[in-house]
Amino acid sequence: MSTTPPPPFADPAGTWNRRFADDGFLFGSEPNTWLREHAANWSPGDRVLCVADGEGRNSVWLARQGLIVDAFDIAEVGVAKARRLAVEHAVTVNFAIADCDAYLWPEGVYDGVAAIFVQFADPTTRGRLFAHIVRSLKPGGTLVLQGYTPKQLDYRTGGPPLASHLYTESLLREAFADLDIVALREYEAGLAEGSGHCGHSALIGLVARRR
Ligand SMILES: C[S@@+](CC[C@H](N)C(=O)[O-])C[C@H]1O[C@@H](n2cnc3c(N)ncnc32)[C@H](O)[C@@H]1O
Repeated sequence: MSTTPPPPFADPAGTWNRRFADDGFLFGSEPNTWLREHAANWSPGDRVLCVADGEGRNSVWLARQGLIVDAFDIAEVGVAKARRLAVEHAVTVNFAIADCDAYLWPEGVYDGVAAIFVQFADPTTRGRLFAHIVRSLKPGGTLVLQGYTPKQLDYRTGGPPLASHLYTESLLREAFADLDIVALREYEAGLAEGSGHCGHSALIGLVARRR
């Protein structure tokens, strides 16, 4: 008897909780490199939001740099590990368990938003997510975003197997037309972010500032 597999983004909380259930960190415990390279856009004491923060590698590192960090993710297993990582590093992060549509996005408060590999979002969800991100930034606040491009479908070393979830330069330029682009780069590089993002990858990075 054949069974139809569930669509890849059905039951996101359950799916991600299962992925995060193993010991260790699926994407490692070190911050994403694009984020690390562009975090100097923020200064100690700045308020930053980490969107869909997973097991906390990015939020905890930003808190270690002296930032005031909010973070949310749909997967409570990931958030529990993130809380433990923060305790290990003796830093405070204001964690929440929330779907990106249900998160109580404050408006105009963040000096920064980090959106690192948030490509769970289909085009419709992504439109709402990106609009929330833009509105949550203060004027002058900076978004740092990293994702995969459609070329990643040739490599399959991480990320969703759906072209509609991946980013191109023109997609990001259009989506963030209300922001000033500081850096926007499609590039290829080897990633060694745990077993989840591992190997040669087709990446895109964006840094953009609210006017
Ligand atoms: C590829 S992981 C990236 C995690 C983290 N940003 C990082 O770079 O390590 C994608 C994350 O999106 C979260 N996620 C999936 N669907 C979500 C949703 N609807 N709302 C909020 N978070 C979601 C998952 O739980 C997972 O932690």
